[in-house]
Amino acid sequence: MYSLFKPALFRINPEAAHDLTINSLQILGHCLGALKPMQGRACEVAGLRFANPIGLAAGLDKDAQAVSGLSRLGFGHLEVGTVTPRAQSGNPKPRVFRLEKDTALINRLGFNNAGIDALVARLTNQNYQGVIGVNIGKNKDTPNDAAYQDYVTCIKKAAPVADYISVNISSPNTPGLRDLAGANTILDVIKPVLEARSELKNRKGTYLPVFVKLAPDFGDADLKQVLEVLKVASIDAVILTNTTVSRDGLLSPHCEEAGGLSGAPLALRAEHCLKLAAETLEGSLPIVSVGGVMSGEDACRRLELGASLVQLYTGLIYRGPGLVKDAIRETRC
Ligand SMILES: Cc1cc2nc3c(=O)[nH]c(=O)nc-3n(C[C@H](O)[C@H](O)[C@H](O)COP(=O)(O)O)c2cc1C
Repeated sequence: MYSLFKPALFRINPEAAHDLTINSLQILGHCLGALKPMQGRACEVAGLRFANPIGLAAGLDKDAQAVSGLSRLGFGHLEVGTVTPRAQSGNPKPRVFRLEKDTALINRLGFNNAGIDALVARLTNQNYQGVIGVNIGKNKDTPNDAAYQDYVTCIKKAAPVADYISVNISSPNTPGLRDLAGANTILDVIKPVLEARSELKNRKGTYLPVFVKLAPDFGDADLKQVLEVLKVASIDAVILTNTTVSRDGLLSPHCEEAGGLSGAPLALRAEHCLKLAAETLEGSLPIVSVGGVMSGEDACRRLELGASLVQLYTGLIYRGPGLVKDAIRETRC
């Protein structure tokens, strides 16, 4: 079915194609309602029950506009956001580029979103039975030394509509954001978030897990150090990885555009980070693997390498909704 729509979608610019898709999924959700996640290899991660290990990565539904429609694709969890305290328009367009020869995307959206209040309003009374993660960030004009306040504002507001919170300190498109994720700085954000969390409950009225999403562009020693810090920080899972600023081995026009690269060229790096995290964390924290998962076999391999959950984004653009079902089926074993 997707093979019928894909050529038309790929003829329009990527951001317009994205908006059209979200609007269509929103209408689908309004008309048909949410669907239960497809049953696959069920698992428990951070105290949450997942009907299958396959989820939607952050950034596709930044404002939680299409949760019901997206639920119909079968995902076990949907991560919405990144959302910031105040609405912001993001970087000037064009800011998303297809790299077709590389089965990849480059984006420099810059946390365009309608703000936390709009997201909470949309998720209030959402009856999706899968797990909902809300990915939180800081506004562009918030200086780094006050960034923790943006994260605390967002977690407090999002808690009643979220099953888990994901802290995004790894987007390459908000200047200086990644400086918050060094071994010496990461607790400046994470500690206040965890303090705020201690007084919060999630949308089911139970413990609110906090996941931390990291970039793929650390050197091995630095990534290990950050993971060692997180290991003892009372967070609940690590998400690896966000998009990369690396541009190795690309063939497509647009490959030199600024922004974060996602899709097939990120796979090796994401797998390397996963292996390193599995070694370092030794089972003390679950790992959510994301980056370049383009097939059911890719998803299966991530679980074999030590991931508890797997997320998809760019694979969906190139493979369509069939990828979700393939990944759920392949990971049943
Ligand atoms: C257009 C686009 C927008 C994204 N926006 C966000 C975002 O707002 N927050 C976030 O944590 N990750 C965001 N990401 C990163 C994805 O969640 C994911 O980590 C990354 O794309 C690697 O996975 P993939 O190769 O399957 O796409 C975005 C990715 C893309 C392609």
